[in-house]
Amino acid sequence: MKVKVGIVGCGTVGTGTVKLLLDNRSLIRKKMGIDIELVKVADKDWNRRREFEVPEHLKTTDYKEVIESSQIVVELVGGIDFAFKLMKESIETGRCVVTANKHLLAKKGNEIFGMAGEKGVSVGFEASVGGGIPVIKALREGLVGNEIKAIYGILNGTTNYILTRMFEGNVNFKEALKEAQEKGYAEADPSLDIDGWDTAHKIAILAWIAYGRFFNFDDILVEGISNIDRLDVELGKDLGYTLKLLAIAKKMNNSVEIRVHPTFLPSEDALAKVSSVYNAVMIEGDFVGKTMYYGKGAGSLPTASAVVSDIVDIARKIKEGTNGESFIPNWEDKDIHFTNNFYSRYYLRFNVPDKTGVLAAISKVLADFNISIASVLQKEKVCRIAGKEGEPIIPLVILTHKAYEYDIKKAVEEIERLPVVEGKTILIRVEEEAY
Ligand SMILES: NC(=O)c1ccc[n+]([C@@H]2O[C@H](COP(=O)([O-])OP(=O)(O)OC[C@H]3O[C@@H](n4cnc5c(N)ncnc54)[C@H](OP(=O)(O)O)[C@@H]3O)[C@@H](O)[C@H]2O)c1
Repeated sequence: MKVKVGIVGCGTVGTGTVKLLLDNRSLIRKKMGIDIELVKVADKDWNRRREFEVPEHLKTTDYKEVIESSQIVVELVGGIDFAFKLMKESIETGRCVVTANKHLLAKKGNEIFGMAGEKGVSVGFEASVGGGIPVIKALREGLVGNEIKAIYGILNGTTNYILTRMFEGNVNFKEALKEAQEKGYAEADPSLDIDGWDTAHKIAILAWIAYGRFFNFDDILVEGISNIDRLDVELGKDLGYTLKLLAIAKKMNNSVEIRVHPTFLPSEDALAKVSSVYNAVMIEGDFVGKTMYYGKGAGSLPTASAVVSDIVDIARKIKEGTNGESFIPNWEDKDIHFTNNFYSRYYLRFNVPDKTGVLAAISKVLADFNISIASVLQKEKVCRIAGKEGEPIIPLVILTHKAYEYDIKKAVEEIERLPVVEGKTILIRVEEEAY
């Protein structure tokens, strides 16, 4: 049995996918009994140097040639407009499609899966989350018998590298970003990564599989890491925490929370120990308990591994004569709703003068909003700025017990109006329940 595959976009992931399909063609045939034949690869520019030389007879600059010659079309172009057009034309002409494009799925997933459902073709998207880590397969298949209670993910290698360097190397954000760029871990324009959007696209996809509802992407709370001060990384370390850009999706009764923000995790937790460019996802199911998936979240060859797993899955369906099956994106018919008023612990850092009555004034406001203090840290040696009247200002850190997000935000607004508090409060959520 032979299945014809074509690729559009031969950049980082495309080149790795071509290499894997050619190098391991006979291995896949032996394992699966299916011959995956790469028939065409389209790219705009074939003069650019690539890590792996694509054979001349496969090259084209016309994506339509790929659609015409393939049963499975692999979109590895990135971006939204052209990628969507390619997916649409492929699906409309009865092709199954595979993509690694989380941005496209987070924005237009509903439409793509709707079209694929009508046409009865498959959409593979394993590589869109976690690069080489087969986390979508785990969620869709391995854990299908479970109600998913929570997902915690470190889903972006660039931000994890930067935060690891700030924690271990004592460098500030700008220095860590520069290092990441020099090592090729961060783009020249790193905003999608450092502002948290790449992570948000990925958790939106995971939450969609887990909770059967495509939540409005714009509702998701997304905070990046570009404003993280090395002082908070150090103070957190003193308190036994490691800072990570964490994606969280949780379901409590009928309400689902999905959020991305810098998060303190207990330093002994397995997720806190995921360092450098590595990714990890913890998924908790009601029967299985906590499970964890770890590996390279990006890169040419790891991502190609995930793309090829989709290709082989779909090829198997084609062999069975079903032309694949569409993932059912909106299976949840219960009245579940989205909330941003989640319940969490908080690290709050205020800039205050070192004098009596300050802690009492802040504690009173917190108590007014039913927020209880778990511990207080005051570093008299860390005196960084002069106050309104030239007096030394020190950081006062309060760790709270669990409180509601909306209450914390209102309390912080009120505390910032106190005459003794200088400037903006640093608010970092603390998770004790991830691994
Ligand atoms: N890189 C990773 O590690 C990684 C990991 C997971 C998922 N992904 C996802 O995988 C996708 C591809 O990423 P990538 O890093 O491989 O991107 P990339 O290196 O920029 O490759 C994209 C390729 O597509 C070409 N292209 C653009 N428009 C085209 C068109 N109309 N027709 C034919 N070719 C066209 C580009 O050519 P030009 O450069 O000339 O425009 C480029 O060679 C993205 O959705 C990305 O989010 C990437």
